[in-house]
Amino acid sequence: MNRNYNHGDIMANDDDVILLSEITRYLEMQHNYNAAIKEVRTKLEILSDEFAAKHDHNPIHNIESRLKSPHSIVKKLRKRSLNVSVPSARENLHDIAGVRVICCYIDDIYTIANLLTSQNDITLIQIKDYIKDPKPNGYRSLHLVLSIPIFLSEGPVDIPVEIQIRTVAMDVWASLEHELRYKTKNSIPDTANDELCACASMLSDLDLRMQNLFRQAIGKPEND
Ligand code: GTP
Ligand code: MG
Repeated sequence: MNRNYNHGDIMANDDDVILLSEITRYLEMQHNYNAAIKEVRTKLEILSDEFAAKHDHNPIHNIESRLKSPHSIVKKLRKRSLNVSVPSARENLHDIAGVRVICCYIDDIYTIANLLTSQNDITLIQIKDYIKDPKPNGYRSLHLVLSIPIFLSEGPVDIPVEIQIRTVAMDVWASLEHELRYKTKNSIPDTANDELCACASMLSDLDLRMQNLFRQAIGKPEND
């Protein structure tokens, strides 16, 4: 039976009540994940300001962030044959909040990862090192999933945030590969895949050479 409820001046039936409660839960989730992005960005900005003020070299080149769109959340849940709901998204997806840190050199990536994970309000949930083990297509980056508390009126809530840390060169490759994959609707021919992988190797070589130049400039051993 579809009963009617009087919510102020609007009449809502059972379906409306379910929809309203799901929208409210989504907005709460959006607020929480946005707050977690702000927390992580602030931590990174504080580190970046400190490096800029006290040191000759700042490992952070730039920071980007994004909240996963409702469309991408539903698409990912469906792809994994999971229940499409706000609680399911919170439970199963750890990249609703995403922060990307672009660094100058490979060493900087691990410096930033260590500085973040050693902060005592942060918990490391997962680490994937696609620099030591690149993906078959050549993708390189360090991925961390961190849990960070946000402080709400009713107390702290831990929120997962996916952090991708990569060099400028790795970012160029990932952006162009993404653009290519988007344009070709996910079906890049095998020959193009080989070419992409070769381009990633060239950029990796560039990263190593630039890093060695930097190490020489600061008097650090090249093969440290
Ligand atoms: P997803 O379902 O993609 O989240 O896979 P996953 O949870 O196993 O995580 P994975 O570490 O593979 O990738 C997470 C994110 O890294 C993606 O959403 C992309 O932003 C980025 N990424 C991973 N692989 C590639 C790639 O081959 N090319 C590009 N451009 N980005 C990638
Ligand atoms: Mg992911």
